[in-house]
Amino acid sequence: MTSFRELRFDDLLKINSLVFDALTEVYSLTFFVKHLLQFPGLSQIAEAPGPDGRPMGYIFGQYQVKRHQEPYAHVAALTVSPEYRRLGVATALMDYFFVVSDLKGASYVSLFMRTSNQAAYQLYTSMGYAHRKTFQDYYPDVPKPESAYELRKYVLRPMEVQ
Ligand SMILES: CC(C)(COP(=O)(O)OP(=O)(O)OC[C@H]1O[C@@H](n2cnc3c(N)ncnc32)[C@H](O)[C@@H]1OP(=O)(O)O)[C@@H](O)C(=O)NCCC(=O)NCCS
Repeated sequence: MTSFRELRFDDLLKINSLVFDALTEVYSLTFFVKHLLQFPGLSQIAEAPGPDGRPMGYIFGQYQVKRHQEPYAHVAALTVSPEYRRLGVATALMDYFFVVSDLKGASYVSLFMRTSNQAAYQLYTSMGYAHRKTFQDYYPDVPKPESAYELRKYVLRPMEVQ
């Protein structure tokens, strides 16, 4: 059975193979280490059954509280290994992240995605994420930059009647 658990520092050396996907956001090792320290409990790894526990996919999430803004959670990176796609792994990772974000008090979960990434768009919209904004030439690819969609899903909360 697939197992899901919090990402640890030693996992950072195991997930290299997943990072090489062209549509996966690549960050430095330093970024990931800082990220795990700063946002404990917001990143998960899915592992395949078996003694090796091969990494199937992961999510890196953040929680942001800024002055004069609603607190929100952000998906910094999500990827699933090509051999384990269309099995519901990304859905499970995203569902987990949404629940944790809600418990922390986030008003919404946001993410950025390449406008050409149809699989991601299908995934997110099927889970209730909606397009909020387009950022032109957000990804500085050479020779042609690519734009990004920001998608958001709001946490439903009971209305306070005064
Ligand atoms: C996008 C990605 C994370 C999806 O992971 P996954 O584990 O295969 O997704 P799921 O199995 O949970 O898919 C759930 C739904 O998303 C949609 N979906 C997922 N992959 C799709 C694809 N290639 N084409 C069309 N729809 C797709 C479908 O509606 C799917 O439901 P279904 O399988 O019942 O039809 C994966 O393809 C991936 O890692 N891609 C490269 C990295 C990337 O793009 N990350 C997102 C960056 S924003």
